[in-house]
Amino acid sequence: MRGLPRPVILIRCRMNLSSNIVVLTGAGISADSGVPTFRDSGGIWAKYDYREVATPEGYAANPALVHEFYNLRRAGLKEVKPNPAHKALAQLEEAMAEAGGSLTLVTQNVDDLHERGGSKSVLHMHGELTKVCCTACGDVRAWLHDLSLKTECPVCRALGTLRPHIVWFGEMPMLMDEIAEAIAVADQFVSIGTSGSVYPAAGFVSEARSLGIPCMEINLKPSENAYLFDTAFYGPAAEQVPLWLDRLRSSGSR
Ligand code: OAD
Repeated sequence: MRGLPRPVILIRCRMNLSSNIVVLTGAGISADSGVPTFRDSGGIWAKYDYREVATPEGYAANPALVHEFYNLRRAGLKEVKPNPAHKALAQLEEAMAEAGGSLTLVTQNVDDLHERGGSKSVLHMHGELTKVCCTACGDVRAWLHDLSLKTECPVCRALGTLRPHIVWFGEMPMLMDEIAEAIAVADQFVSIGTSGSVYPAAGFVSEARSLGIPCMEINLKPSENAYLFDTAFYGPAAEQVPLWLDRLRSSGSR
């Protein structure tokens, strides 16, 4: 159920731990852990053609290449650790739950750094590197190994039918109903480390604004839709997210 419609005006209210906050994270929050972003210089899409490795058409044309791309990224998870931004969001989730509020953490990231940072509930709208899905029987399961065309599905025993549980360009992101429900009852929307260039995630700020929800951005630099945010803090997420948590804890303000 979506919440009641709200007037389309910006409601300036002071946030505190008993509020409902929706946080959207992108590659920038994991950048301080050493995970490359997509569109910054030297980012993933500067090295790979997304059409070849992140579309259903690319997978159909060359599944081995797609497996190699995600095998490398999955293996790379072992080399990185959650940073203070991931940990601060986990602490915030706990503190808000204790205070009677709620933090809904939505991420476009397919890494597991939020979970390893202590977050208990994470909505991975673009899927997860640590899961696979069988295109034959639909089974989805945790998977930490490499995939190849010879990998057998543990459920239906088909060969080469397991694919990364990742949303590719042209596919529908996951958990959209849950995300819309959380935004509908939010007191604040916070976007952290995302370029604001990939929809539908880039449209969440407009959705929140249309409901009168104050919106805040944390990023290294203004994102493509920075003009839609009421407040912004610029700097590395590993510094700025813990500072935001401190501000929430000490004064209850944004
Ligand atoms: P992008 O690579 O598009 O943007 C990364 C954002 O993080 C930029 O706005 C940077 O300014 C910011 N940033 C970089 N370092 C940062 C730091 N240390 N602290 C804070 N911010 C920092 O990544 P996303 O916006 O996450 O989708 O990309 C969205 C989607 O596009 C991804 O989920 C992926 C990609 O193609 C799919 O693969 C389907």
